[in-house]
Amino acid sequence: MSKVEPAGAENLWNENPNPLYTEEDIGSTRLHSSFRAELRPNFSEKEYNKFVRLNTVRDWSLLTWDDVGKPYEVKKFSRDRLEWEEQEGKDMDPHTSWQFFNKAFHEWFVKDVPAELDKSKKQFMRSLKQFKPGEIKSALGDMVRIHLWNYAHRIEDGIWDPRGKRALFEGLDVEKPKILFLGAAEGYEAMQLAAMYPGAEVVLVDYDEYCKTTRFEEFPDSYPFLGENPATGQPKVYYKDDFQIEYVVEDIRNLTYGKEFDIVLSVGLLEHFPDDYKPEVVDWHRRFLKPGGYAIFTTPRNQVRSRLYYHIMADVMNHTYRELMTVEQMGLYIYENGFDILQHGYIKVHNGVVARER
Ligand SMILES: C[S@@+](CC[C@H](N)C(=O)[O-])C[C@H]1O[C@@H](n2cnc3c(N)ncnc32)[C@H](O)[C@@H]1O
Repeated sequence: MSKVEPAGAENLWNENPNPLYTEEDIGSTRLHSSFRAELRPNFSEKEYNKFVRLNTVRDWSLLTWDDVGKPYEVKKFSRDRLEWEEQEGKDMDPHTSWQFFNKAFHEWFVKDVPAELDKSKKQFMRSLKQFKPGEIKSALGDMVRIHLWNYAHRIEDGIWDPRGKRALFEGLDVEKPKILFLGAAEGYEAMQLAAMYPGAEVVLVDYDEYCKTTRFEEFPDSYPFLGENPATGQPKVYYKDDFQIEYVVEDIRNLTYGKEFDIVLSVGLLEHFPDDYKPEVVDWHRRFLKPGGYAIFTTPRNQVRSRLYYHIMADVMNHTYRELMTVEQMGLYIYENGFDILQHGYIKVHNGVVARER
């Protein structure tokens, strides 16, 4: 049985601790060994049409569950979860499942992908020579997963998707906003928002301590976020250390903030709760929001390539209950639970909604 190990001291992610990019690099993109640096401000029109679809529903009050159907539930769990449940003789609780998930997911973010591609190919060739079907199957699985990760995260940048996220986050009427990120993990999207809306005060909340000590702490200092220079209105490159961030390790249900945030955000949270719990999760986004503030939600899309991704990457991703949904389904959960939808759409692999309390 694998265990959740404490955070390692070595940061494998920062291949160069010094900022590599300046405003002169705006307009360019570059592949690093574990991620893509993306400083192209916008998609070309062709790319935009391929990757971004915004505001397709005119009147949310006319949509019904009969029209939109229910989300698709991912039923294949990770080996770690199944082994844990067999050993413990009970279902894995959500907090433990998130600890497993965060550890497994982080291990992929820090991979030196070109080196791992090479290693997996050599391992596969070796297994072929040995003629052991079990080893061939395992080496083939490893090779498929690292190729898929390279494509989805590093080449396509589908997980962070900075250009898609910027399209979704654009045009908010806020100045030096207070931003609350619920279930923040490494905090990526709040940092992207802080770059776009300078002077932001960010609070990241996650009840898995590993997210603070490792996923966030080890997030590369050299990753460039494209945002705005408040003095000139021109594009500017920001780094993690430029932002004012507080990381709170706590269950969202125990937070005691008042209605003090301009933006409350979650990325990949709503789909981890069955329908009975969704009103409560939507309410978490309202509870701490200033009147007129923005709630932002994203969830993974229900598309064939995503179903395939969660099937192939089950051991990395599937420790928790998970649904894949359409933006109409996601918007309807949010609309039904007291929000007006201001902006909705889908970007590379997620749906996104920007909403305001009704
Ligand atoms: C799927 S992750 C968010 C996706 C994220 N962008 C990533 O890269 O992993 C959801 C996060 O919410 C946290 N979380 C879930 N329920 C929570 C709760 N009740 N209180 C605080 N954090 C919670 C989990 O620990 C996890 O890190």
